[in-house]
Amino acid sequence: MVGAVVLDRHGNPAAEDFHAAWGGPHAEALALARAGHAARGGTLYVTLEPCVHEGKTPPCTDAVLRSGIARVVVAGHDPTSAAGGGLERLRAAGLEVEVLGGSLGEQEARLNRRWRCWATRGRPWITAKAAVSLDGRIATRTGQSKWITGAAARTRGHELREEHDAILVGVGTVLADDPHLDRKLGLNPVDRWLRVVLDSRLRTPLDAAIVRDRPESTLVVHTAAAPARQRQALATAGVRLLEVDADRRGWVRLEPMLLRLAQEPIAAVLVEGGASVHGAFADAGLIDETAFYIAPMILGGDAPAAVAGAGVAELGQARRLSVESVARCGDDVEIRAVVREGSDVHRTG
Ligand SMILES: NC(=O)c1ccc[n+]([C@@H]2O[C@H](COP(=O)([O-])OP(=O)(O)OC[C@H]3O[C@@H](n4cnc5c(N)ncnc54)[C@H](OP(=O)(O)O)[C@@H]3O)[C@@H](O)[C@H]2O)c1
Repeated sequence: MVGAVVLDRHGNPAAEDFHAAWGGPHAEALALARAGHAARGGTLYVTLEPCVHEGKTPPCTDAVLRSGIARVVVAGHDPTSAAGGGLERLRAAGLEVEVLGGSLGEQEARLNRRWRCWATRGRPWITAKAAVSLDGRIATRTGQSKWITGAAARTRGHELREEHDAILVGVGTVLADDPHLDRKLGLNPVDRWLRVVLDSRLRTPLDAAIVRDRPESTLVVHTAAAPARQRQALATAGVRLLEVDADRRGWVRLEPMLLRLAQEPIAAVLVEGGASVHGAFADAGLIDETAFYIAPMILGGDAPAAVAGAGVAELGQARRLSVESVARCGDDVEIRAVVREGSDVHRTG
């Protein structure tokens, strides 16, 4: 997510633009083209260091040098080895270059944390989302979960989907709820997203909503244990299949699955449950962000908790998150939190 503003030599705004979609023109190239001659001797403000490589688009440093811009101010460096180094190139060409630190640098890192995770760690950013009762349950003891939260919280959940490239659930949720895992709000200019189901033995029914509706955008991830007949049937229905190694429980191993998603390229995955899937991601230390919607009700009994898995034995082993926002959504409360960079383990000493 990159924006650029061009000021002319007198410091007056000449043009601005932003990077609307992956593969599309970059913010600074668009803004400089818009500014034309007004860029000569002016200043370019851009949230991310201009790239130096020929990727989906030509190098932005070339556009900056051609424009006659005298000074470039960025909020953050490009962390990738292929595209990074743009500022050095511009400095070497005699331009004045400034990198903003402090809170502006932090804002850029936060804005682009999903892409930064994908670009530097080679796996998508993971957001775990759940609608829970006050006592942390995601369904009643008989398995009912529609609806724990109200309409406003569910709309927020849909907004979240538009911020992610893929929505992931376990086959338990497909069997229990038959979700559509769709986007309804039209907020994202890229009308393309992947629905991912973890389904070791391919129990996804052929009449599931995610098979009947746009099967080409559904990726069912399974293991070698999936029966040939079910593979054939789902493939014939148009669903994409991906086989990965099994973990020691016989379930889909998460790391190789995420590496494959990163290659799509999927930079951010919204994990919508259920309990077993949230537990697997939590146990593997693979949750970067959480968006929990808490409804003021108590379900009690042996209703399933939001996160199953092995869990932690001691408080000191729990990953501590930083709360980023707490918001009212109708009668419910949204809490968004992210893993603390470099200090995700809570130390009581
Ligand atoms: N309130 C909410 O926000 C919310 C959201 C979603 C779901 N739910 C509720 O949650 C319940 C379903 O949860 P659930 O725990 O039974 O099912 P789940 O987490 O949706 O799916 C678990 C199943 O996925 C398969 N799987 C494959 N690889 C896995 C991996 N690496 N980690 C975990 N699972 C993997 C396994 O089945 P195989 O062995 O067959 O592969 C496993 O049993 C339903 O009651 C649903 O309504 C609530």
